[in-house]
Amino acid sequence: MPETNLLLPAIANRWSPRTYADKPIDPETLATLFEAARWAASCFGEEPWRFVIATKADPEKFAQVLNLLVPFNQDWAKNAYVVGITVAKKTFTKNGNPNRFNLHDAGAALATLAIQASALGLQAHGMGGFDAQKARTEFGVPDDFEIGAAFAVGYVNGSAAPPEGRTRKPLSELVFTPTWGEPAL
Ligand SMILES: Cc1cc2nc3c(=O)[nH]c(=O)nc-3n(C[C@H](O)[C@H](O)[C@H](O)COP(=O)(O)O)c2cc1C
Repeated sequence: MPETNLLLPAIANRWSPRTYADKPIDPETLATLFEAARWAASCFGEEPWRFVIATKADPEKFAQVLNLLVPFNQDWAKNAYVVGITVAKKTFTKNGNPNRFNLHDAGAALATLAIQASALGLQAHGMGGFDAQKARTEFGVPDDFEIGAAFAVGYVNGSAAPPEGRTRKPLSELVFTPTWGEPAL
């Protein structure tokens, strides 16, 4: 449970389900998820994130993305309405220099999408369990882009809830004064 009542409900209610409902996401809602991602902050305003997605509306393309996942993930993600991967541009467009914040910023964009999803009664679920190399060739991702994480998004079955005993590390282990390990909070 969050340790404060001040936490935004969309953050407090976000979780990573494996129990998606057989319910489509309407086009405006779907676009709103990526609109949220689009408004994330990024180093130099590069917006290095890209998303490759497929929805149940096109079963062939949905299967193309789903098949990249490891079997464990396929088993539950097949019920989500959207599956996709994040991709991050490796260099700054303005000068060609390496952007070491590319995956950082793509992660921030996916996190923003997940919070927007939660606010709209949906849930997103990130996945590392997929074949990133195959995703690159399958989708024709250019060399200057790095494969990030896979994800699923959808409505959740009504009875589904986050697992019991879901916890987080205490703030004292996460936030330090300028001396490493010394709790700031
Ligand atoms: C980058 C990333 C990779 C993940 N990989 C997987 C995965 O392959 N399979 C899976 O079931 N969950 C995966 N997860 C979900 C995490 O296990 C989950 O976020 C974590 O246990 C915390 O739970 P919560 O999101 O419900 O708070 C991943 C999450 C992230 C952010």
